[in-house]
Amino acid sequence: MRLLLAVVLLLVPVCLSAQDKPKGPPPPLKNIKILVGEPREQVIMTMRAFTVALGVQCTFCHVQGDFASDDNPKKETARMMLTMARDINGKFPDGKRHVSCYTCHRGATEPATEPPAAAPAN
Ligand code: HEC
Ligand code: HEC
Repeated sequence: MRLLLAVVLLLVPVCLSAQDKPKGPPPPLKNIKILVGEPREQVIMTMRAFTVALGVQCTFCHVQGDFASDDNPKKETARMMLTMARDINGKFPDGKRHVSCYTCHRGATEPATEPPAAAPAN
């Protein structure tokens, strides 16, 4: 009897936590200021493109475990960069996207403004 009680008491928290698990689609995004109205999958694809373009992990811009938080200042810089890239693209008359994060960043956090010094001057 004691053993049975112990087993029941052990199982109760397990069953409760299983019930707490969210079912169905993930919760909506909470803190979107630039990519407004885009479906979650598209936002995540943009995020993956950011990591490739800058050669970083998600945590370069995000607080670990809380993507909605703005506590990492790199996230606000990235918002400014998104707006800048949109402005540049808006100046092309054909309406196409010519400039992306990768255009400048090429896998680095700080884009080069000069060619490599190794090249001999002409
Ligand atoms: C270069 C910086 C940068 C990197 C790297 C980055 N993110 Fe983001 N992330 C942002 C910015 C900026 C926003 C807010 C966009 C806006 O306001 O429209 C955001 C928003 C999000 C959101 C929405 C959170 C919410 O609820 O509002 C999720 C989820 C997210 N990022 C996931 C990721 C994942 C997963 C990765 C890695 C694959 C990643 N991010 C990498 C900059 C970054
Ligand atoms: C026109 C060129 C250009 C484009 C396009 C561009 N960036 Fe940048 N970005 C820069 C430059 C230059 C710097 C370095 C600024 C400095 O030295 O302080 C920078 C810096 C950053 C930083 C800060 C890095 C650090 O080490 O603190 C982040 C984050 C960033 N960019 C994200 C992005 C994202 C995301 C995109 C695409 C939406 C993007 N950038 C598009 C030129 C660009």
